[in-house]
Amino acid sequence: MKQLFIEETPKKIGQEVELYGWVDSKRDHKKIIFLDLRDRSGIVQLVGDERLRKISSEDVLYIKGLVKTRPEKLVNPKIKTGTIEIEVKEFKLISKAQALPIPVNTDGYEIDEETRLTYRYLDLRRPRMIRNLTLRSQITTFIRNFLTEKQFIEVETPILTKTTPEGARDFLVPSRLQKGKFYALPQSPQQYKQLLMVAGIERYFQIARCFRDEDPRADRAYGEFTQLDMEMSFVEREDVMCLTEELFTKMVEKLFPEKHIKQIPWPRLIHKAVMEKYGTDKPDVRQNKNDKDELAFAWTIDFPLFNKQTADDFFYGSGKAKFAPSHHMFTAPMPQDVPLLDTYPLKVRGQQYDLVLNGYEVGGGSIRIHDPKIQQKVFDLIGFTDEQKAQFQHMLQAFSYGVPPHGGIAPGIDRLLFAILDEPSLREVIAFPASSGGKTAVMNAPSIPQSDQLKELGIETTT
Ligand code: AMO
Repeated sequence: MKQLFIEETPKKIGQEVELYGWVDSKRDHKKIIFLDLRDRSGIVQLVGDERLRKISSEDVLYIKGLVKTRPEKLVNPKIKTGTIEIEVKEFKLISKAQALPIPVNTDGYEIDEETRLTYRYLDLRRPRMIRNLTLRSQITTFIRNFLTEKQFIEVETPILTKTTPEGARDFLVPSRLQKGKFYALPQSPQQYKQLLMVAGIERYFQIARCFRDEDPRADRAYGEFTQLDMEMSFVEREDVMCLTEELFTKMVEKLFPEKHIKQIPWPRLIHKAVMEKYGTDKPDVRQNKNDKDELAFAWTIDFPLFNKQTADDFFYGSGKAKFAPSHHMFTAPMPQDVPLLDTYPLKVRGQQYDLVLNGYEVGGGSIRIHDPKIQQKVFDLIGFTDEQKAQFQHMLQAFSYGVPPHGGIAPGIDRLLFAILDEPSLREVIAFPASSGGKTAVMNAPSIPQSDQLKELGIETTT
């Protein structure tokens, strides 16, 4: 493993160092040749003789050289290593690069998306993308440390599972052992995390991959995305909101010191009022929308438990019912509104909360139903057939064995970082995203399987 990252070289003035990296650029001044060497941490200027002439951009290079202070008038304040340069004593060309199909020393926004995704492993070389991936890693590390300190346990839940309805289409995976049957990839770990509360875990979290077959948008990834999935027992709505608020306030202070949060505690906006005032349940309440360092977090609360069902609610009710859950079918009604379930279901408010940031919904959660009778009633109101109810029988059964009151939330990691950084698309914060047409980066999936694979699964395709 290499010993030194380039950003550390200014601490080594007068010493000989060994560096590994990619050649970012080359300036040939006949007898003296300047190279900028780049690694994950930054770039540094190398100075050498004609032997460096055979080196070109994006070659992978090893060098041994002396770290020297630059004369004052040659200092470059734009880079971390701008006060020094390295006089090359020895070098080795480790790997030659042919000309790249896309530049990697720009911010990349100017390049066609399809091309960027085809060559994603090159596109990620650009410092902006490395910074975004680094921040993503720092975010999940921060979250893990914060929640572990608050006595949360990280639990992994299955990816090959049964449908977990969050209002999108499922991805199905055929079973070889039970031909004609399919697994569904989870749209979220919603049911598992509730079952973990029945199991007595009390405080659960997971950096969870979720799968939804829905049309992509700038703020919506196609296929898969990542949530910080959380669930807690013996909590009320304010507990979940306060914990989330503390987590992200501290995270912003630590990882994004240049950003400022508009208002702490974050405002709680009542759904009805917010719809009347802004015409949306995720208003952008920034003071100054041109200030990219302003973060206006807010909560929207007191949503109606149900909306009128529309054609988009294909999952629910087989066309018989009038109501669709506004969050999901496990969300508890406000206790004082329970009697309205029998009389005016559309007037029932849910114990749901949406986390809003600069006009984006970056998280959603609720206190859950833990009374099987109320759960049954909600299934009826959304028009579940007996067959659909049977799909969730395990939840009702689990709830009959002693279930703690519980609730949780799931902020989207991709969407949160996208909103904080004010990036134009979610793809800017995902290493290998799918294109808007649903093609995966580099690998170009989906693809046609071999006929033997289909035969083994008992599947015939008609297209
Ligand atoms: P919900 O469906 O509201 O709730 O999702 C929670 C958060 O996940 C993120 N998100 C997405 N991010 C990127 N691309 C997508 N296609 C996408 N879809 C959702 C958003 C959203 O706010 N199980 C519940 C949570 C709970 O009740 O605890 C759930 O998944 O940031």
